[in-house]
Amino acid sequence: MPHYRTIGEIPPKRHTQFRQPDGSLYAEELMGEEGFSFDSALLYHRNPPTALKAIEAVETEDQETTPNHPLRPRHFRTHHLKAGGNAVMARSVLLANEDATISYFVGSDSSDLYKNATGDEMVFIEQGSGTLETVFGALRFEPGDYLLIPASTIHRYELDPSDEPVRALILETRGHIGPPRRYLSRNGQLLEHAPYCERDLHAPMSPLLREGDNVEVLVKHRGGMTRFIHEHHPFDVVGWDGCLYPHKLSIHDFEPITGRVHQPPPVHQTFEAPGVVVCSFVPRLFDYHPLAIPAPYNHSNVDSDEVLFYVDGDFMSRKGAGIEKGSVSLHPGGHTHGPQPGSVEASIGKGGTEELAVMIDTFRPLDLGPGARDSQDDGYAWTWLEGR
Ligand SMILES: [Fe+2]
Repeated sequence: MPHYRTIGEIPPKRHTQFRQPDGSLYAEELMGEEGFSFDSALLYHRNPPTALKAIEAVETEDQETTPNHPLRPRHFRTHHLKAGGNAVMARSVLLANEDATISYFVGSDSSDLYKNATGDEMVFIEQGSGTLETVFGALRFEPGDYLLIPASTIHRYELDPSDEPVRALILETRGHIGPPRRYLSRNGQLLEHAPYCERDLHAPMSPLLREGDNVEVLVKHRGGMTRFIHEHHPFDVVGWDGCLYPHKLSIHDFEPITGRVHQPPPVHQTFEAPGVVVCSFVPRLFDYHPLAIPAPYNHSNVDSDEVLFYVDGDFMSRKGAGIEKGSVSLHPGGHTHGPQPGSVEASIGKGGTEELAVMIDTFRPLDLGPGARDSQDDGYAWTWLEGR
């Protein structure tokens, strides 16, 4: 996240004396990625962020994954998963590999404080609203928002009261999530041909300044989940600056790139992380060559597994495949996929699409988690047969 921001109070020069009204020093914290060689932020706490009173192991539900064997394309109906719990502890793992974990959350509870020490998180809000409270400040969220939460950022979810649960697709990466490099200038500014720009990225606007003692923070790490009991509330930051902070982008601010003939999926790319790309398929005009075929061609993804999360719209190329709102399809490497029978002809002459979908491609094969096993549509592999 290269865009420099600052909020709250900070001293004019880093690593210099910055005193509280009572004369004591604020506690400066450098939060930096890749050692001291990548994006970082400086945060100024009222109390030392290092003071822990207790450390406890936390038991978590086993989310065992199994290989996609025998190899097959798959369809998961996430709206068939049971609702309950909060967005930290009640995630159903759908798919996972060494680089990424893709989970689904449906529930109505606000969460405890949490940080993911294993990597960044991208949370796509399908339904519901609330506030993401973080050590950097708060971010409101609503349907269509991508919340981008850097590794080790302490945060929690405060959900708005509603009759409907919050639904979210969650991507955890082992590396850091950012804009595609090809859209960035040498110094990190989003270029003119990028489908979104800095104005579309929203960050916290003011510090939270919470107070409290003996505050629990759940820490996800390679060994499992641990609970830290902080002596002071970690949201005691009076100001911060830098290029590392949680932020959000609405999928509705992603400006689609279109062409006379079918544009390949990279034009929809929104983010990247090591071994992973994220694309946004948004309402757009279809191809305008007089003989254009708007439906995608059949496709062998030689080096990737493709995951598509169907959010809203008509899902033109999947007619007859049982795809519904909240569906997730997995088209693995080694399998040739394409539009279902009849949808190529049906697409000709159409002026546009209202589809809204999020695609996550991984360059290593994905294993299946319990959320996939619990929501699988067993007939999906045969939906490309004529006259089925
Ligand atoms: Fe594809």
